[in-house]
Amino acid sequence: MSEPRKILVTSALPYANGSIHLGHMVEYIQTDMWVRFQKHRGNQCTYVCADDAHGSAIMLRAEKEGITPEQLIANVQVEHSTDFADFLVEFDNFHSTHSDENRELSSQIYLKLRDAGHISQRSVTQYFDPDKQMFLADRFIKGTCPKCAAEDQYGDNCEKCGATYAPTELKNPKSAISGATPVLRDSQHFFFKLPDFQAMLQQWTRSGTLQDAVANKLAEWLDSGLQEWDISRDAPYFGFEIPGEPGKYFYVWLDAPIGYMASFKNLCARRPDLDFDAYWAKDSTAELYHFIGKDIINFHALFWPAMLEGAGYRKPTAVNVHGYLTVNGQKMSKSRGTFVKARTYLDHLSPEYLRYYYASKLGRGVDDMDLNLDDFVQKVNSDLVGKVVNIASRCAGFIHKGNAGVLVAENAAPELTDAFLAAAPSIGEAYENRDFARAMREIMALADRANAFIADKAPWALAKQEGKQDEVQAVCALGVNLFRQLVIFLKPVLPQLAADAEAFLNVAPLTWADHATLLANHQLNPFQALMSRIDPVRVQAMVDASKEDLEAAQASNAPAGNGELVKEPLAAQIEFDTFAAVDLRVALIVKAEHVEGADKLLRLTLDIGDEQRNVFSGIKSAYPNPAELEGRLTMMIANLKPRKMRFGMSEGMVMAAGPGGEEIYLLSPDSGAKPGQRIK
Ligand code: MSP
Ligand code: ZN
Repeated sequence: MSEPRKILVTSALPYANGSIHLGHMVEYIQTDMWVRFQKHRGNQCTYVCADDAHGSAIMLRAEKEGITPEQLIANVQVEHSTDFADFLVEFDNFHSTHSDENRELSSQIYLKLRDAGHISQRSVTQYFDPDKQMFLADRFIKGTCPKCAAEDQYGDNCEKCGATYAPTELKNPKSAISGATPVLRDSQHFFFKLPDFQAMLQQWTRSGTLQDAVANKLAEWLDSGLQEWDISRDAPYFGFEIPGEPGKYFYVWLDAPIGYMASFKNLCARRPDLDFDAYWAKDSTAELYHFIGKDIINFHALFWPAMLEGAGYRKPTAVNVHGYLTVNGQKMSKSRGTFVKARTYLDHLSPEYLRYYYASKLGRGVDDMDLNLDDFVQKVNSDLVGKVVNIASRCAGFIHKGNAGVLVAENAAPELTDAFLAAAPSIGEAYENRDFARAMREIMALADRANAFIADKAPWALAKQEGKQDEVQAVCALGVNLFRQLVIFLKPVLPQLAADAEAFLNVAPLTWADHATLLANHQLNPFQALMSRIDPVRVQAMVDASKEDLEAAQASNAPAGNGELVKEPLAAQIEFDTFAAVDLRVALIVKAEHVEGADKLLRLTLDIGDEQRNVFSGIKSAYPNPAELEGRLTMMIANLKPRKMRFGMSEGMVMAAGPGGEEIYLLSPDSGAKPGQRIK
């Protein structure tokens, strides 16, 4: 056996100012599958990530919500972590760029760059918002396009005619934050001297570790000459102050990739088996991989390796770039309901369906990837349910009925088990190369052969014949063994299916190496349905809910608290059955309390007759003294699937009207209604 490899893997750090959506999930699922594959093979693989918590967008959003940036990023971190965990994305650490480790490492790297002469400074003239007293990034300036005179265009490009320009060329510029007319102002900025690293980058980007398309893109930039990179921003800014330069902050993209190191460092503190230097020192023999989308190549394949080199650290082994997600062949769209948040998906569908679908479409390239919702249903149902799970469900019954659940030792078709064994290296190689689509194709080809074998032997027909019982057992034992092989190959993609299969097979957690053995004279546990078909109705419900998310967002953007009626468009008509499926109950609020650490939530204990429910509700701003709610009747949705929140399970939802903020009005029935009565 060769030494296990030491591998550190990252996914890009998601911005802490928005929810995770299915586009992001392309990256996190892809990375997770690759990491699980490495662990499955026995390598020491560590997967770290973090929220990208800095920048003016986060500062401004927190301000709008009336909370501090620290509160905002804490809330979002909980949301992101829960979304990832529920998609079975298993980080070894999920940290934040707003952390002590990152502050220290960012300062240290900056100082090393500065002392080595890689930092310069000069004055920059920029638009300044005199009301907000802050410099305006291009996207916070709006005005009339200098080329086509379209109004309301951003400071760097026109969406109407496609022209790009400097913000100072914009006619009639306005601050998108305050509406004030910006003025030009000078300020001292700090620059990272990227051109110092031209030769190193020329060599590194051609060292064979980047995909061809990526290396070609980089060659274009390198050939046209590198520019110095502006790494400072003026206060007010949410980020880290530059050491020795009061009022100057690191631009978010300076400390974001350092967040990879910081998250790993944070993990090292509680994992004695991991040594920071062994992974990051210049002479490190560990492998380092960054998985990213194609929009952030320059940050990862130019600035980042240059910063690492300049500060005396090792460079990435490779940067693995993927394309963008489209849904039904088009850009994700809020109005079409195809801009689906991770949570909305999870409310309707199992994570493994999407993991498998993405795996079946992901190659090594940087091409965009389409999630076609009809194809999604069809492929998952036909491959996972129809081919893989079907093998076990067809065979298990005969073994339990005919042989008390024990697999016989006889191998009914050695040529088949040999073929499975022979296919393993190629499947392993496809995973290693991130060619998940090829791995899935090869695994499904094996599943087809297993099914053809069972269909040919037809144990259900044999079972009815005299003297064929041994053959039935041999065929079904092989069927179960082939199913086990498929599960071993699919485990990086379908960890939950693998865990359920391990329970049925009555075996320890399966590793890649287990594919070389077969179970013989082995007791199975009772078979339980491992995966059910996707009902297309669930997919439609997810699309509908995504349209509702949009409506809710529009409603909550309306100014709350001014007493005006906020109009929400009427939702699409529904059938009576859809209404009848909702179980509404009269509920007595037995207890209403604050939730430690939650800005918006109250914890309600609700009595609905025979049982009590624990419900978290975002109504705190309207009911700052929750005790006043106790003893009051309200209405709840009693059959909403329980939802796991940071503070516990929420088992239903209470009903309220109003735009939000202080304007939330809890609904109550007329007096006389009793807790537990159904609302019809
Ligand atoms: N915060 C930066 C990354 C800093 S890394 C040091 C960022 N955040 S992001 O939230 O916008 O994106 C996170 C990752 O998700 C990026 O790799 C990005 O390419 C990827 N995706 C975001 N939308 C996507 C799609 N629609 N499709 C595929 N990947 C997408 O960028
Ligand atoms: Zn224009």
